[in-house]
Amino acid sequence: MAMNPKNKNIKDLFPRTLVNINGEIYPPEAANISVFDRGFLYGDSVYEVTKTIKGKCLFLEEHLDRLYNSAELIAMPVLFTRAEIKKEIEKTVKALDVDQAYVRFVVTRGITPIGLDVQTEQNNMVIVVKEYPDYPAWWYEKGVSVCISSFLRNDPKATDPNAKSGNYLNNVLALLDARKKEFFDAVMTNKDGFITEGTTNNIWMIKNGEILTPPLKAGLLKGITRDKILDIMKKEKFKGGEKNFTPAEFLEADEAFFTSSTKGIVPICQINEKILQNTPGPITKKLMTSYEKLLKA
Ligand code: PDD
Repeated sequence: MAMNPKNKNIKDLFPRTLVNINGEIYPPEAANISVFDRGFLYGDSVYEVTKTIKGKCLFLEEHLDRLYNSAELIAMPVLFTRAEIKKEIEKTVKALDVDQAYVRFVVTRGITPIGLDVQTEQNNMVIVVKEYPDYPAWWYEKGVSVCISSFLRNDPKATDPNAKSGNYLNNVLALLDARKKEFFDAVMTNKDGFITEGTTNNIWMIKNGEILTPPLKAGLLKGITRDKILDIMKKEKFKGGEKNFTPAEFLEADEAFFTSSTKGIVPICQINEKILQNTPGPITKKLMTSYEKLLKA
């Protein structure tokens, strides 16, 4: 007897999806990996998420750089070459052939005898490519709400948030808690009480014309969209940069937004109970236009 008959919905849950496992492409219902894989048992993996625009992966080189950097941060050898990973991603994207795809690539520390000990050097690679309709227009036109979470972001001296590892439990709990309170996302602080980032995005606030985002040492992922926004700010001479801020300062923001590869720039219209009037504000709008231009280029 099937213990979880709901598992049979894989086909419905993932329409227009293909999965590449170690170089072979499968439909979602046939995409299986061993229960002994360390990614499943311990979250012992690294991953990246991007999307395609006209069949091309957005900032793929930067995502590959970060994948190898994350692997180094968790002392995980990646035995696939960069060219192999790239080739398999491109092959899977081409096979799905949709206008816009979500692309997730995962490299795990593979299968070892059960136990934390790493006795062999190996990997499994999984690439998920699925059709990806545009996000709702209201996110961008009206903004979304965030709450300041009681969950702390992991300390860089524990599992470094700058390693994009498969260990997202802390962020899952923060998001669950936020959704229970009917917020769109949670923003986590570090143990020193400074804002770090959202559950799958980087956080920004604007005060008196200055655009601020927490520095890497606050404990957060070096977002690729974050880097692109910092580049735009330099080129277009926006004021601001990386600076720590507290929840009290965040609550006093004139404007706020978050960034990620899949979602781009999403304005924030509410922080806890505080409503940010006229979201998206003028500076957020300017940045959204500049970022759109960059994507088109
Ligand atoms: N998340 N911070 C965290 C914790 C993230 O998981 C992400 C990305 C970001 C933004 O990084 P980037 O601009 O490089 O996408 C920041 C992806 C989208 C995800 O896990 O789905």
